[in-house]
Amino acid sequence: MSASASSEMTIAVIGLGHVGLPTALGLAELGWNVIGADDDREKTALIGRGEMPFYEPGLEELLRKHLAAGSFRVVPDVGTATALGNVIFVCVGTPQREDGSPDLSQVEAVARTIAHHLNGFKLIVEKSTTPIRTAEQIKRTVERYRNENHAVEIAVNPEFLREGTALQDFLQPDRIVIGVESARGRDLLLRIFQPLVDRATSPLPRPRIIVTSPNTAEVIKHAANAFLATKISFINMIADLCEASKADVLEVAEGMGLDPRIGPAFLRAGVGFGGYCLPKDLRALIRIGEEHGTDVTLLRAVAEINDQRIERLLAKLRRAVWVLSGKTIAVLGLAFKPMTDDVRGAPSLKIIPRLLAEGAILHLHDPRALASARAALADRPQVVYSDSIYDAVHGAHAAVILTEWEDYRTLDLPRVRDLMAVPVLIDGRNLWDPGVVRAMGFEYVSVGRP
Ligand code: UGA
Repeated sequence: MSASASSEMTIAVIGLGHVGLPTALGLAELGWNVIGADDDREKTALIGRGEMPFYEPGLEELLRKHLAAGSFRVVPDVGTATALGNVIFVCVGTPQREDGSPDLSQVEAVARTIAHHLNGFKLIVEKSTTPIRTAEQIKRTVERYRNENHAVEIAVNPEFLREGTALQDFLQPDRIVIGVESARGRDLLLRIFQPLVDRATSPLPRPRIIVTSPNTAEVIKHAANAFLATKISFINMIADLCEASKADVLEVAEGMGLDPRIGPAFLRAGVGFGGYCLPKDLRALIRIGEEHGTDVTLLRAVAEINDQRIERLLAKLRRAVWVLSGKTIAVLGLAFKPMTDDVRGAPSLKIIPRLLAEGAILHLHDPRALASARAALADRPQVVYSDSIYDAVHGAHAAVILTEWEDYRTLDLPRVRDLMAVPVLIDGRNLWDPGVVRAMGFEYVSVGRP
């Protein structure tokens, strides 16, 4: 029976991380019958009990809802998920190797497992961010190792979810890109995503669906993330210029962003982009470009400007505090961005070891990411993890803000000033008005502002 002709379609989602789990639950919310699988047994046990392996707003409620309704369930392994699913979304990790290239061993392993468990036609949808032409490799691998001659098709459906707003991004996307080889794959994916178009109500625009080849869809994903990274590095370079010329980067960004050809988004200067995606995908694209003989000077500059953010922030801190050895520094914000507990690729993880190497004593605070930071940094005698912002700043010779959590924006600043040994604020995210904070008695240094 063809899956497209079936009234009952089961969607399998392989890999239940920051991409897979929101995708699985989003699809369940659209009315599909979804099963999930992941090699990490601890994670699947947790998810099966209705508990989240990471923090993502709104997801835990949805997980409980769909487990209870039976529209989402976890199966013990990828083979079972393959056997049960008509359409298989591959959402496994593609971690970065030493040389910047992505490690595709999880993708390859999933392709082989799928091959061994084919029991009818399957549409395999690559959702993990992978190098260009990975879809071709997945198809080749499945065809090479399949036990029976069942037909498979491969499609690419890049994800544009942001951590912290993943669910909203899934349910209200601006676009859906489907890269397919044939009408059969296209029609299946159009059917799966049609509810997203139907449920869009004014004033939200209907998402645009773009149908391309698999290779084009792979390039779209990389190009989108690299462009976002470019915007951030561009405004950070302009911030450097603003610092040198006593101009204000917030006003420059506003003045640029009002041009609809430029747009205001992703022009927030600061300590640079972090996370699991932008830095890793940028390096991967540089490698892909090099391998294909493309001049990637522009992308290298984007990465370099981002790396310089850490040095510039440290220089500002040293200028304010002078000798860091023996000084207590409060680090506010460990997650790579607000509304997540994810510290992967976070500026905090680059800055903290540098401060420790210079002999500083650190008070670390984050509203959500304390546990993941602790796991990444391990316990050290010079580091105190603090649940309370006010405890963290107590006795500090400077506070460094690395994540734009709302909790920091709304701090009781006079209280902070009175608790600190020396009221120095190094604001890596431009949270406050310099005039107001200085009038309160702080020495205040931010990014790209006089
Ligand atoms: C990013 C993309 O925005 C998503 O579209 C994409 O789906 C995802 O990667 C992915 O490939 O999986 P995400 O990593 O969740 O999403 O985070 P972003 O919101 O893009 O922020 C990345 C970093 O840039 C953060 O450290 C943030 O603080 C920084 N940033 C962002 C700035 O420094 N300035 C800005 O103006 C915007």
